[in-house]
Amino acid sequence: MKDTYIFAIESSCDETSASIIKNGSVEIATVVLSQMDIHALYGGVVPEIASRHHIENITMVLEEVFNKAEMAMEDMDAIAVTYGPGLIGSLLIGVQAAKTLAYIYNKPLVPVHHIAGHIYANNLVKPMEFPLIALVVSGGHTELIYMKEDYSFEKIGGTLDDAVGEAYDKVARVLGLPYPGGPMIDKLSLEGKDTYHLPIPLDDNSYNFSFSGLKSAVINLVHNEEQRGNEIRTADLATSFQNRAIEVLTKKTMRAVKEYQVKHLLIAGGVSANKILRNRFQELCLENNIELTVPQMKYCTDNAAMIGAAGYFAYKLGRRADLDLNAKATEILK
Ligand code: KG4
Ligand code: ZN
Repeated sequence: MKDTYIFAIESSCDETSASIIKNGSVEIATVVLSQMDIHALYGGVVPEIASRHHIENITMVLEEVFNKAEMAMEDMDAIAVTYGPGLIGSLLIGVQAAKTLAYIYNKPLVPVHHIAGHIYANNLVKPMEFPLIALVVSGGHTELIYMKEDYSFEKIGGTLDDAVGEAYDKVARVLGLPYPGGPMIDKLSLEGKDTYHLPIPLDDNSYNFSFSGLKSAVINLVHNEEQRGNEIRTADLATSFQNRAIEVLTKKTMRAVKEYQVKHLLIAGGVSANKILRNRFQELCLENNIELTVPQMKYCTDNAAMIGAAGYFAYKLGRRADLDLNAKATEILK
């Protein structure tokens, strides 16, 4: 069978990225240009600055990926692009680049939902087996998704307030750690002890999550201790926060796996890079005879390789966009 090459672009937040993916599972070349160091100066992503940097970087990133792959646009079967959700100014740069290339080279244009991309990052590790449950944990999303086949996304639960990555970032900030907070808490928690008493968020029979109460509990605790002149044991507080968050994520996910009788669990999104989260799921899946796939570390956070993987399946299913494709800041997974 002839190979299918997808050229993919991702620019939904603060990474400008392009990738060439073969048959939805083989990475030929990927370039990710992160603006993280710039936004760290402000303690979070500044949308206006992000879009300006995407404009400056996109041509360079596109050229570099073709050089790395020693391929040309003519070799591509289709162009896939993240059209949403994300920062509108950032998304627009990638969408415009993809539309321009599709027009000039007369290639099919395939719109990809950012979260579909995070989920399909797992297909670069191992072919996804259906039915499956995907736990999406990122800076903007915390969702449990049931998939009975490719591109069938049934949301069975999600966060009622903050996404788990957002809670990590806010807790890190109050602990005086630099942005992005997730990787810092991950590192610190390896030295800490679970000594602080914090509430378990939304510990009920639903598949929903709530992280704002846990986040507020940490913020209040820090303020109270400061007022009393007590020292905060930062590593211990990071560990206690993380353990409560992971406890609820693993508990509800494993219940969903059982109830929906799936044999395959995927973890996706930036927080899937977390070492304790990965270890805990590995233990639980081993105990319960469930196959677990987690993305490669480099493809947990935003990148175009995952958009190329998701784009391949969207392409095969006949999903196409016209040249009037617009970016969408909010968009449900479909
Ligand atoms: O998927 P992503 O790059 O962007 C969104 O689509 O939101 O996820 C970014 C989020 C940030 O909140 C970041 O703090 C978190 O993922 N993150 C982590 C780790 N690495 C990134 N959270 C916990 N542990 C990590 N190792
Ligand atoms: Zn993302």
